[in-house]
Amino acid sequence: MAQQDDVFKKIVSHAKEYGFVFPSSEIYDGLSAVYDYGQNGVELKNNIKRYWWDAMTLLHENIVGIDSAIFMHPTIWKASGHVDAFNDPLIDNRDSKKRYRADVLIEDHIAKIDEKIAKEVAKAAKRFGESFDEAQFRATNARVLELQAKRDAVHQRFSDAMNASDLEGLRQLILDEEIVCPISGTRNWTEVRQFNLMFKTEMGSTADGAMTVYLRPETAQGIFVNYLNVQKTGRMRIPFGIAQIGKAFRNEIVARQFIFRMREFEQMEMQFFVRPGQEMEWFKYWKEWRLRWHKALGMGDEKYRYHDHEKLAHYANAATDIEFQMPFGFKEVEGIHSRTNFDLSQHEKFSGKKIQYFDPELNQSYTPYVIETSIGVDRMFLSVLCSSYEEQPLPNGETRTVLHLPAPLAPVKCAVLPLVRKDGLPELAHKIVDDLKFDFATHYEEKDAIGKRYRRQDAIGTPFCITVDHQSLEDGTVTLRERDSMEQSRVKIADLHALIHDRVSLASLLRKIN
Ligand code: GAP
Repeated sequence: MAQQDDVFKKIVSHAKEYGFVFPSSEIYDGLSAVYDYGQNGVELKNNIKRYWWDAMTLLHENIVGIDSAIFMHPTIWKASGHVDAFNDPLIDNRDSKKRYRADVLIEDHIAKIDEKIAKEVAKAAKRFGESFDEAQFRATNARVLELQAKRDAVHQRFSDAMNASDLEGLRQLILDEEIVCPISGTRNWTEVRQFNLMFKTEMGSTADGAMTVYLRPETAQGIFVNYLNVQKTGRMRIPFGIAQIGKAFRNEIVARQFIFRMREFEQMEMQFFVRPGQEMEWFKYWKEWRLRWHKALGMGDEKYRYHDHEKLAHYANAATDIEFQMPFGFKEVEGIHSRTNFDLSQHEKFSGKKIQYFDPELNQSYTPYVIETSIGVDRMFLSVLCSSYEEQPLPNGETRTVLHLPAPLAPVKCAVLPLVRKDGLPELAHKIVDDLKFDFATHYEEKDAIGKRYRRQDAIGTPFCITVDHQSLEDGTVTLRERDSMEQSRVKIADLHALIHDRVSLASLLRKIN
């Protein structure tokens, strides 16, 4: 675990050092849980968004996109349930004056028990060597059984309290388990209170006439309130989907793990409108299809798993998360939810406008059911960064830091490097850049020794380096160096475009899922 923490710290500092992610407002000491994307980060992020957008809208004839405003009529959030129920249970420590999410304190406590169990298992595995039978050890070892029973009991009380929104039950569990504040080390806790996660602001100039509006906590509602507009103007027939990418805001009490949990973040959401009664088959379709989208990136199939929800939101009849193995464990990156007709019905009720679909095949009108796929751009970014980062020992005893980014997502696709800054090599290199730049993000770099330039490109994940040397002037060939294998081959300048295109195009990625 400590080793994984170290790796994660290195990834965070690498992201800053190489212009991927900066703490927001850094010269003013930062703003908690808000981050800025740098010159390489914005390219990687845009490529992730493009991959999602094209997969949704190009590979599905019946999905179209929109871009709705962040500010929306405040009644929308009343209708959606966010004003009344988009809450986290919070608790304060009176000594440190620090605020925590009560559920996170308990989850962390459960994770510590899990760690103790894992340590016992690891110790035994070392002691018994090859003959170790983990399942048998877990089923018979007294210490492990004791810890497991404790864990199960805490977990049961925790989920009972959460399911019943029993705030006193959560507090009692924190007291009974003697959970202390990580800062003060004391158990001087306040009551547990509900805390609404939406940011509020005022719209309008005078204090009297100003209206309270919210920064949207999800992009989905912008889709629901535009359902009729899109269905009618696009003459869409059910089943069809509406996709949107945009910012969302949540006043998270516990914001941590870098860009995993932010107060301002970005979502890529798609609402798929279906005939009532057909939602389960579409839920299954989208669950499988979204996992295929993830796996096509080639970051390792074993790094993904589904987490089906046992406790469903009151409007959902099925929900699952796609989790990715981050350095701090398997974590939710995407949610797939069967939302029934809850949202459209609520907007019909609160707006007084009829939101129905006339199904010509059935010759009847109904409120469509909805399957939602919702993925955080920043979490996706983090999973790509974490799985790509490697400190690779080299045969010569040195270590290189390399980002094995999926090539179509890389911020820079190829770097053109003249071996020396004279003899006409820079001119030829510039000419190659001028040929390639219309199709690929291409960098020109002439400073420092060639080995150092390769390392810099490895560190930002550039799949190809093209080196121009004296031979290039004579026979029109260059050296093409591949990032992951570091293999170099002599190729014709005229062949560069095709060689690079094959590996870096988004189309090649999209073909893998179709
Ligand atoms: N419309 C449904 C919805 O918003 P959600 O599970 O609350 O569902 C969907 O959020 C996705 O948005 C999550 O799977 C996660 O990737 C991302 N997300 C949610 N809260 C986030 C936060 N505070 N920081 C970064 N990403 C977040």
